[in-house]
Amino acid sequence: MRVRPATLDDAEAIERIRVETWRATYRGLLPDGLIDGLRENADQRRERLRSQRADQFSFVAEDAGEVAGYALGGSERTGDAEYRGEVYAIYVLPAHQGKGLGRALIRESARELARRGLDSLVIWVLRENEVGRGFYERLGGRAIREKPLEEFPGAADHIEIGYGWSDTSPLR
Ligand code: ACO
Repeated sequence: MRVRPATLDDAEAIERIRVETWRATYRGLLPDGLIDGLRENADQRRERLRSQRADQFSFVAEDAGEVAGYALGGSERTGDAEYRGEVYAIYVLPAHQGKGLGRALIRESARELARRGLDSLVIWVLRENEVGRGFYERLGGRAIREKPLEEFPGAADHIEIGYGWSDTSPLR
């Protein structure tokens, strides 16, 4: 297993992971219409990778040579004074979960943020997502914030929990 920065050639794999893992994770938690409407969009992903801001990063995790997970992150997006780095998204294909890829992606993300002088971290997760919450708690995160899920029309009654690490050194 290894974690490395994503390249433009990873766009297809990232999209496949996003859609497959979203379906497996959020079916029954988020509205069916949202899940049924998920589509891979490699062109848009490639464009996002190409135009990635300097304060952001994208990592992929390989398992036996296959890209099986990814993490996107960067500066915290709302100007939070206490938690200054953020992992925006982390997804590992269901068949590759529980093998250490998620931990390795978080480690690399925390290291990358620390290299940029950001040694605190927040990660938002859907309140009903027990798998995600269990993972963040196992890694020492504390539930520190709550907000409505604003990203998706039709899902505004859902709540996101922010897990925080005021010092990421144990993750690194
Ligand atoms: N409850 C308790 N502990 C857990 C859980 C859980 N649900 N999941 C993993 N762990 C523990 C593991 O046992 C392991 O502990 P250990 O190292 O002490 O033995 C540790 O956490 C690391 O586990 P990994 O194998 O590295 O985790 P994995 O590769 O499965 O990645 C992840 C975790 C990213 C949550 C993955 O399971 C996944 O993609 N799940 C579905 C999608 C998801 O929920 N993503 C997060 C959404 S929030 C966001 O994107 C910002």
